[in-house]
Amino acid sequence: MCITTKRLAADAAGIAEAATLLRAGRLVAFPTETVYGLGGDALNPAAVAAIFTAKGRPASDPLIIHLADATDLPRVVAAVPPAALRLGAALWPGPLTLIMPRGAAVPYAVTAGGPNVAVRVPDHPVAHALIVAAGTPVAAPSANRFGHTSPTAACHVLADLDGRIDAVVDGGVTPIGIESTVLDVTGAVPTLLRPGGISLETLRDLLGEVALGGQAPTAGAGLAAPGLLARHYAPRSAMVLVVGPTHLALAWLRKRVIYEQAAGRRVGLLIPDEDAASLADLGSDIERLGPASEPDTVAHRLYAALRALDARRPALILARDLGATGLARAIRDRLTRAASGHVVYLSR
Ligand code: TXA
Ligand code: MG
Repeated sequence: MCITTKRLAADAAGIAEAATLLRAGRLVAFPTETVYGLGGDALNPAAVAAIFTAKGRPASDPLIIHLADATDLPRVVAAVPPAALRLGAALWPGPLTLIMPRGAAVPYAVTAGGPNVAVRVPDHPVAHALIVAAGTPVAAPSANRFGHTSPTAACHVLADLDGRIDAVVDGGVTPIGIESTVLDVTGAVPTLLRPGGISLETLRDLLGEVALGGQAPTAGAGLAAPGLLARHYAPRSAMVLVVGPTHLALAWLRKRVIYEQAAGRRVGLLIPDEDAASLADLGSDIERLGPASEPDTVAHRLYAALRALDARRPALILARDLGATGLARAIRDRLTRAASGHVVYLSR
């Protein structure tokens, strides 16, 4: 393919040009509050097909439709379940994707042939202005090549997709830094398919019962969301995640770095600031994620840090888990997948 990818400013002219491209069935990456999306007209089958091609994504992995406002839901869903009404009112615009029955206007390519469609209303001024200007629902997966780390800056988008999409609107670094929470509200009990920017605790406060679905990467045939693949958001380097009490995890990291270094292998550490201070003497390559007590800071930096570390090609990347409360649950999920399921559990 030989498309020249334009870098558009996130101003009125840039957004107008991007909207014109979308209306013409072309592909435009744009910032959302979570990560950059690779957008195309959700109601145009050719544009939807082009998204899969540009990303190298299997047709079996469905796309999220982005709306400017929840009042546009009838354009893309056949029915709005009561739980969706409640969640939409409380949390949209925001990092929550809801799975609902597909509306007749939505091409089956968007839903990978399935009866349900994923929808969200992003909370980002550029995304909002672009969808309004385009005048159509916008289908957008994360703007990375399939299986790679999601982009939190325009330069990340270009690193993966330059020459494969028509434009990227450069709206700076995305605030949250990891993807939306995906919740299936088609059944009797809402089911969490992917932890993300909205925490499980918040969902349970609003809904009561929320089931944990598809958490096991080995779920197999009934795989509800391919974002659940064991290997996803992955760097090129091998990676291991260590889970357990902080003092044990730090001792394990120290031992493992010394072992790898003795074998002549370069190690990269993806760790919070406190760990960086305590492991600094080892002289390994460190990407600091911020204070361990601030999961929002860690989420914001996570993918850029992973990309930066990976670009320096260590033989092995080691990361430490930060628990499963609030946003840390989503961070654990992404680190587990980046590590292709290579997780070491430590206990007293
Ligand atoms: O924050 C986000 O969600 C970003 C921004 C751009 O909005 N988008 C994103 O899209 O992460 P993507 O395609 O990388 O991940 C969407 C996830 C995938 O795991 C996909 O399988 C799941 O949502 N999904 C999409 N449609 C679905 C459906 N109809 N049923 C079940 N899962 C679905
Ligand atoms: Mg993705």
